[in-house]
Amino acid sequence: MRHRFHSLCPYFAMFPESFAEQWIEKLSKPGDVVLDPFSGRGTTPFQALLSGREAIGNDINPVAFCLTRAKTSAPNESALRQRITFLENRFVAKQWNAEAATLPRFFAYAYAPRTLRQLLFLRKNLGWRRSEVDCMLAGLVLGSLHGESNKSPSYLSNQMPRTISTKPEYSVRFWIERGFEAPERDVFELLRKHLSFRYESDPPAMKGVTFESDFRNLPIHLKGRDKAPKLVVTSPPYLDTTNFEEDQWLRLWFLGGAPNPTYRTISKDDRHDNPDSYWRLIGDLWRVLGQVLATFARRHSYGRQEANTQRDCFRFNRQWLFFRS
Ligand SMILES: C[S@@+](CC[C@H](N)C(=O)[O-])C[C@H]1O[C@@H](n2cnc3c(N)ncnc32)[C@H](O)[C@@H]1O
Repeated sequence: MRHRFHSLCPYFAMFPESFAEQWIEKLSKPGDVVLDPFSGRGTTPFQALLSGREAIGNDINPVAFCLTRAKTSAPNESALRQRITFLENRFVAKQWNAEAATLPRFFAYAYAPRTLRQLLFLRKNLGWRRSEVDCMLAGLVLGSLHGESNKSPSYLSNQMPRTISTKPEYSVRFWIERGFEAPERDVFELLRKHLSFRYESDPPAMKGVTFESDFRNLPIHLKGRDKAPKLVVTSPPYLDTTNFEEDQWLRLWFLGGAPNPTYRTISKDDRHDNPDSYWRLIGDLWRVLGQVLATFARRHSYGRQEANTQRDCFRFNRQWLFFRS
């Protein structure tokens, strides 16, 4: 069975776990450290743990950080259930009326009144940066925050795509023109349902390490660690493809951000639209990896000819790195 944490939350431009698994198994040994400096939904570090490797994830986007950490530092199910009950017992819908009234009109069309108040309550009360339990609960909410609610009871919002958050005014027009209404959903009940489903798979025995940082800071974060990474499996932002900050605006709002799309307040590397600046980013990446990888990071254990035929494999400074092209 596919591990049920893999699909915790979709992420635009994500790669399939089979890609990460294939290269981790081929190019590292159990106990090696595997790094992804742009971890997105956390597939590489999570798969590394499942394969018995140590895992380090990093991403500048809080959504990616939360998902990577939730998967690679998963608490046990009973702690999560206790926390849901604790939070549910403290939720009083009318205490959130004033805050709901200050939100842009998008929110009143996107969520049923009680659902919106539950989201506001959880947004304030989940300490997802400091607690592994709250991080997993926030990750579960992120995975349900928007999606095709006409087809699945797992989504909290009026109809939206599940990969990206559509722009607020476009969404409102879309719903009004079609007469679509926000579904009545109980967030606490949904969280319990998701937990039962996700925890059909046991969390990995080991935990990983996750940073919320510009990849250029990795040499500082990794300094002094016992073991340096031996393998990197990653996909950097693509040239002129997507703007992770804008496309994740609703999930970023739930994690404490603005109630509208923002641009380049989190990542200056979002959506490079000219090749020169993009190659500067890739140049920075090579330089940083040269600093953090173990010397002779992963000499290929199979034929050189075979490695050279892989389009998505680059040899750099005697180290092997994998990108998805
Ligand atoms: C193509 S996505 C990675 C997707 C990932 N492989 C997956 O399967 O989910 C690129 C990631 O790079 C992150 N990113 C962009 N600029 C960054 C920076 N300067 N430092 C660290 N992460 C950055 C984005 O937030 C985004 O999550």
